[in-house]
Amino acid sequence: MISHSDINGRVASFNKIVVLTGAGISAESGVPVFRGPDGLWNGRRVEEVATHEAVCRDPWGVNNFFNEMRRFAQTVKPNPAHIALEKLEKHYQNDLLVVTQNIDHLHKHAGNQNLLAMHGELQSILCNHCGGRFPFFEDVTKETLCLSCQKPGVLRPDIVFFNEMPYHMDEIYAALMSCDLFIAVGTSGFVYPAAGFVDIASRAGAYTIEVNLAETERSPIFQEKITGPAGKILPLLVNELIETRATVA
Ligand code: APR
Repeated sequence: MISHSDINGRVASFNKIVVLTGAGISAESGVPVFRGPDGLWNGRRVEEVATHEAVCRDPWGVNNFFNEMRRFAQTVKPNPAHIALEKLEKHYQNDLLVVTQNIDHLHKHAGNQNLLAMHGELQSILCNHCGGRFPFFEDVTKETLCLSCQKPGVLRPDIVFFNEMPYHMDEIYAALMSCDLFIAVGTSGFVYPAAGFVDIASRAGAYTIEVNLAETERSPIFQEKITGPAGKILPLLVNELIETRATVA
């Protein structure tokens, strides 16, 4: 639990914030995290569904896996943690950037606009033939035509697979270099480059906070750790940031 006195004072100079989110922020919406006993990959090797080799070997198996996820993602709703970040954006506007590793659209549904989905989006599709990317809400089948080149059988999920380059990296690095507060929420710190963002922000002089249910691989790097569910912690943290900024301004 955080209290006003814990935070008051040290937030006084926070003008530019980058928040990195991972699967843990959506856990309270009912979306399974990736790792752990009930994780999404439990029972499957990640290489079976989330690598370029998997797409080449079994494109329809991979598409069907993500078809199911896409359908499921349309049934879930933002939780208080997503809603808190939307409130933070209302106050900070362009001085807040949310970078998410999640592909579930819950930040977008909550209303965040300064948002970069670095691992792609379930509700988007990518054409292997022409490279087009399109909003997409249905199942992909062998018959589905690319909306740009009109070819059938060439679509794949617009998800960044292992060993592929995440989206928006230049923009993200620029924001990390110029923020004075970096917060990582609900991410295990296993997957790079996102796991290394704390190092970059730290070296650039930012204060760093980790919000997680548990210790992570990267916990020792953060200046402050807040342990607990994101849905409880973020509304409190966001209120503190907003109150202190208003007081200082
Ligand atoms: N509140 C805060 N943290 C939580 C909560 C919660 N309610 N529930 C779980 N967590 C934490 C866990 O303790 C864990 O550290 O969220 C983290 C989830 O870790 P992962 O499942 O590894 O998810 P993530 O870090 O987002 O994975 C990164 O790996 O598989 C790839 O591309 C995929 O984007 C994903 C990337």
